[in-house]
Amino acid sequence: MALTDTTMVELRELGARYPQARSALLPMLHLIQSVEGNVTNEGIEVCAELLGISAAEVSGVATFYTMYKRRPMGEHHVGVCTNTLCAVMGGDLIFERLKGHLDVGNDETTEDGKVTLEHIECNAACDFAPVMMVNWEFFDNQTPESAIEVVDRLRAGESVQATRGATITSWRDAERVLAGFEDGLVDEGPTAAGASLVGLEIAAERGWSAPSIDEAKQASTGPDGVATTKEGAAEQADTSRAETETQIEKSPTGSAEEDTDD
Ligand code: FES
Repeated sequence: MALTDTTMVELRELGARYPQARSALLPMLHLIQSVEGNVTNEGIEVCAELLGISAAEVSGVATFYTMYKRRPMGEHHVGVCTNTLCAVMGGDLIFERLKGHLDVGNDETTEDGKVTLEHIECNAACDFAPVMMVNWEFFDNQTPESAIEVVDRLRAGESVQATRGATITSWRDAERVLAGFEDGLVDEGPTAAGASLVGLEIAAERGWSAPSIDEAKQASTGPDGVATTKEGAAEQADTSRAETETQIEKSPTGSAEEDTDD
């Protein structure tokens, strides 16, 4: 399927958003996915031509990041986190149950084309483990039963609300948002919630606040500038390593200059 004029205009628009047009490659690939259903060969060629880079370079990016798909996707992408914490909290079991319920393997799509199932890595939501993502919206604290209910409702075309995020649209619609074209749902549903805020609540109860940057620096070094904590020592080590590297770069031989004061 040839890309439409509208898509070509939007791809150029993305390129114009950055001082270096090639910085737009990631959102451009998301836009290609939103209209084509995956990163197609045509999409790769078009991105390469618009950005003045080779198709091999575009292909290298599209095959490196797992959010880019080279095979057609279902209407919805269901990702079950099977990284360590989610796995031990039930993620492995959820994934196994969904595979059986949907009759698919990893990275496969149901016969009706509604759901592509994939096991995914940590989504930085470990405090809500086990976590499932639908089109990259969070479904927290899942069980095999709740996960099965979600996919059944998706396949039935019912409205499904993320536990922390917006109403589920479709994978293609979500890809368009990731490309940088808002759908107006950004503020829908809770974002930070529950376990993520417990530390903040305890701090508020006890009147704690984060130290200023100056206070933090003072705490990690003494009045003579000598490190008094492990963090301060690490910072000093980083600084002296950076200074040494600068000296090496400036030296005509490329090696560290010797101290000539003697
Ligand atoms: S291990 Fe699953 S969100 Fe971090």
